[in-house]
Amino acid sequence: METGLRNRLAVVAASSQGIGRAAALAFAAEGANLALCARNRQTLDHVAQEARQKHAVEVYAEVLDVGDDSGVRQFIHQANTHFGRIDICVTNAGGPPAKPFSETTMEDWDRAYELNLRSIISFAHAVLPLMELRRWGRFITLTSISVKQPVPELVLSNSIRTGVLGLVRSLAGQYGPQNITVNNVAPGFTATARIADIARRRAAEAGVTPESFMAEMARDIPLRRIAKPEEVADAIVWLASERASYITGQTILVDGGSYRGI
Ligand SMILES: NC(=O)c1ccc[n+]([C@@H]2O[C@H](COP(=O)([O-])OP(=O)(O)OC[C@H]3O[C@@H](n4cnc5c(N)ncnc54)[C@H](OP(=O)(O)O)[C@@H]3O)[C@@H](O)[C@H]2O)c1
Repeated sequence: METGLRNRLAVVAASSQGIGRAAALAFAAEGANLALCARNRQTLDHVAQEARQKHAVEVYAEVLDVGDDSGVRQFIHQANTHFGRIDICVTNAGGPPAKPFSETTMEDWDRAYELNLRSIISFAHAVLPLMELRRWGRFITLTSISVKQPVPELVLSNSIRTGVLGLVRSLAGQYGPQNITVNNVAPGFTATARIADIARRRAAEAGVTPESFMAEMARDIPLRRIAKPEEVADAIVWLASERASYITGQTILVDGGSYRGI
């Protein structure tokens, strides 16, 4: 399938590990150049180097906390100055901590808003005017199955991320006439450091091993396994491609069938 992504410029936020990293490498495999960011320089440079070496693409990588609004704007300005274009923007950030509602603090709520909703607004403000100028764009948010089906103990994610859906639908309506699509990818359990962490904690609480806890999680998924980050990345790349040119305002679940609603 020809994706039409060669020589496009893909911004992938929070892309040194996990799903962000897999998305960055999947875009590079399609010949797209990259603008990447994360907070840790070492792991970020590692991904940038891997993309350059394996796929001969150009990569701009900058240390950034996506909760820093002026930092996001500066990052996009520099990427646009460097490449002269921003075609695709995938927003991402670390997920909020898993804890029962009674243990959440107001600081937790503020940080969850800052990372998982406000950071997307920062990226949208910075990239959409640039996409409008070229009358082509793909804005893709990465959220969670929690936007469809609340996950126990992820009250911060369950609450804040639904706001992203309102934003996605609003932007899809407003920017459609400029040939910019806006979509959301919502993964279920995916084998990354974040999920290993959650599994370790919950396994300890339940008095079982992390491995048996993960196997138990997989038993509830119709496909009977946890996703690989590359499987989520494939959905992101497809939405960014020419093959998804008439799809906008949608949430694509990549959850192995976990969401049981119709
Ligand atoms: N894995 C799952 O099962 C799953 C399921 C549903 C939804 N999700 C959501 O998908 C997103 C990605 O999850 P993941 O599993 O890929 O996570 P991960 O493996 O922990 O990777 C998170 C990435 O984001 C970067 N990052 C974290 N906070 C950041 C910040 N403030 N500014 C910039 N970069 C930041 C990290 O690098 P630095 O630490 O260096 O900044 C790292 O590259 C999260 O929002 C998560 O909640 C994950």
